[in-house]
Order: sequence, then structure tokens, then C-alpha cells
Amino acid sequence: MDKITFSVIKADIGGYVGHSSMHPDLIETAEKALQKHKDQNLIIDFHVSHCGDDLELIFTHHKGEEDKEIHKMTWDIFVEGTNVAKSLKLYGAGQDLLSDAFSGNIKGMGPGCAEMTIEERKSEPVIVFAADKTSPGAWNMPLYKMFADPFNTIGLVIDPSMHEGFTFDVLDIFENKTVKLNTPEDTYDLLCLIGASEHYIIKAIYKKDGTIAAVTSTQKVNLIAGRYVGKDDPVMTIRCQSGFPAVGEVLEPFSMPHMVAGWMRGSHWGPIMPVSVKDAHPTRFDGPPRVIALGFQLNNGSLVGPRDMFADVSFDLARQQSNEIANYIRRHGPFEPHRLPLSDMEYTTLPHVLSKLKDRFK
Ligand code: F6R
Ligand code: MG
Ligand code: MG
Repeated sequence: MDKITFSVIKADIGGYVGHSSMHPDLIETAEKALQKHKDQNLIIDFHVSHCGDDLELIFTHHKGEEDKEIHKMTWDIFVEGTNVAKSLKLYGAGQDLLSDAFSGNIKGMGPGCAEMTIEERKSEPVIVFAADKTSPGAWNMPLYKMFADPFNTIGLVIDPSMHEGFTFDVLDIFENKTVKLNTPEDTYDLLCLIGASEHYIIKAIYKKDGTIAAVTSTQKVNLIAGRYVGKDDPVMTIRCQSGFPAVGEVLEPFSMPHMVAGWMRGSHWGPIMPVSVKDAHPTRFDGPPRVIALGFQLNNGSLVGPRDMFADVSFDLARQQSNEIANYIRRHGPFEPHRLPLSDMEYTTLPHVLSKLKDRFK
């Protein structure tokens, strides 16, 4: 069978209300457009979702990664959606579209993009994660746990098909260079880098034979634009079972609401809260940051699903802990470590304040 490309391409093209959620008309616009492309056989199948104010286009096709026609299709959908957002005067309409015209590849133009080309197995369970009010570094800790931590993934210890470990492709977002590190051999080197999650980001994970296991969106919108244009809320796709972590091993890291950068004005640390799609509306202090998980079974490229994987009582405690941590850290107000260090903030008045105070410094 032909190889299948599984694409997740997302953008914030307008929030409802403020930056908190998605207007149903934008979902409908995207669904109609993708249905048209499905009818014309450009894509095999699709699902449209949202996490907060981010529109998530999930679809399959035979065109490979970074295909011009496919990227143009998604760009046109985001432009059409932006027009709908503008007609409703939604907030920040078109905020992630950084250019007036499509330039051949949607990467670097604002939208986030995670694509993998696979040979569909006899049974192919995949989980798509999408987050809002955070950044791609948010995936570092959960990915490490899924693919390299035996306390999370017992398969690494007792499943012969996983015992060899995995290869992590890590991107230095400032140098725009990648390095491949193997686990368990390079574990300490890997942790040395990815612990700095605003600098080094896991881009992809492979089995040792080169088979793709996971991909993330690694665009940093604020760096691309050279100025603040909205937090680059990330997505990722993970293959599960039979030599990859089991569905439960892939979900397990989110039982601990780890601290991620983002939240209000992209300038605070906060706990990431795993939620079902119906609760993917960050409201308190524009948060706390949210993550959804959509599970699919691929059937010759058709998307059987999604199952809303965090719509489960076993994540209630993580949600409660997330609320408690949010309460605690909020009380730090404008002080670190709630507020991000100066270098990572997306809003700053510091140059202005310093220049105003320059004669008062003695
Ligand atoms: C964070 C985010 C929001 C906005 C905040 C201010 O990623 O999107 O917290 O930063 O609502 O938004 P503006 O500057 O548009 O008023
Ligand atoms: Mg927004
Ligand atoms: Mg967002």
C-alpha cells in the first residue's frame, strides 16, 4: 500500500471571546473546505478540532510532507477562516498568518505544522495532542517520559520490541540546528538539553531502525516574526502500540500537570491541564494552559475517530492538582518564578521603564 502522510496543521486565526476559545463558524468553514478537497481526492480524510483559540486541521493524504499543494490548501483555509473571523469581528483575526501571500511552504509563515509519513501497520493507533497558551517546549518532558522513562513506560523494560530504546531529534531553536541523541545511551546528554525547554525542543522521535514514532510542531512564532505575535501553541502526533509506547503509556505523563511557559500574555509559568475538547477553553488568567488528546485508528488513511482521550475520570486528579497549583502560583503575581524570566517574556515594558528612570538611577 502507498505510504500515508498524517498532517496536523494549526493556526490561531481569531479568538472567541478574546483569546479563550473558537467560534463554531470557523470550525464549520474548515470542515466544508476540507470536505471539498476530500471529494476532489486531494486528501483521504480529515478531522477539525480546536484547543482554546487554535484551529486544528488533522488530515491524511498521499502527497508527502511539506507538499506545496497541501500547504497551499491549508493556507487558503486559514485565509478563508480569517475572513469569517473578521466578519464576526472575532479577536485577533488572522493573528498567526504572518504574510499576505503564500510562499510555497506554510512552515515559517505562522501556522504550526507536524507531519509524518508512515507505512500504515496492520492496526495503526495514533494520538494527536494539541495545546493552548504554551509553547513547543511543553512537549519535552512528556515525550521523554513516554519514550525514555521506565517509570512511565514499562514497555521499555519488559517489551522486547521497545527494549533497544529510541532516537530523539532535538532542535536548538536559536541556532536552528538539530542533534540526534539515542536513549538509553545518551540519556544524560539528552536531559541536559531538553531540560532547557525554551531553547532545545524535541522535534521527532524514531525507533532505532529509523521508523518514525512521534513528531511535534517546532515553530516559534515570536522568533519567526521577530516580535510578539501570539504564543505558538504546539501540536504533536504519536504512534502507539506494537513497538511504540502503549496508548496508556502515551497518556500517562499528563497525569502530572507539569509547569509550562505561556499562560497570560505568554509570559508566565503555569501547570498544563489535560482536558476533553469540551473543556478546552482557557479562561482563568487566560489559562491555565490546556492540552487535548484525540485518538484515531487509521484505516487505509481514513480516520476512525476521534476518541477524546482525556474525557476520562482518571485525569480528574490531574485537573484538580492543576487548579491547586494555578491557585498557588498565581499568588506570586508579577514576581518570578510565576512570571517568566525577562529573556522569555513575550511582552515587556522594561526598555521603556529603564529609559524613563535613567536619570533617577544613582
Ligand atoms: C497568551 C494569550 C493571551 C494574550 C492576552 C493579551 O498566549 O494569547 O494571554 O496575550 O489576552 O492579549 P492582547 O495583547 O491581544 O490584548
Ligand atoms: Mg489568540
Ligand atoms: Mg492559542
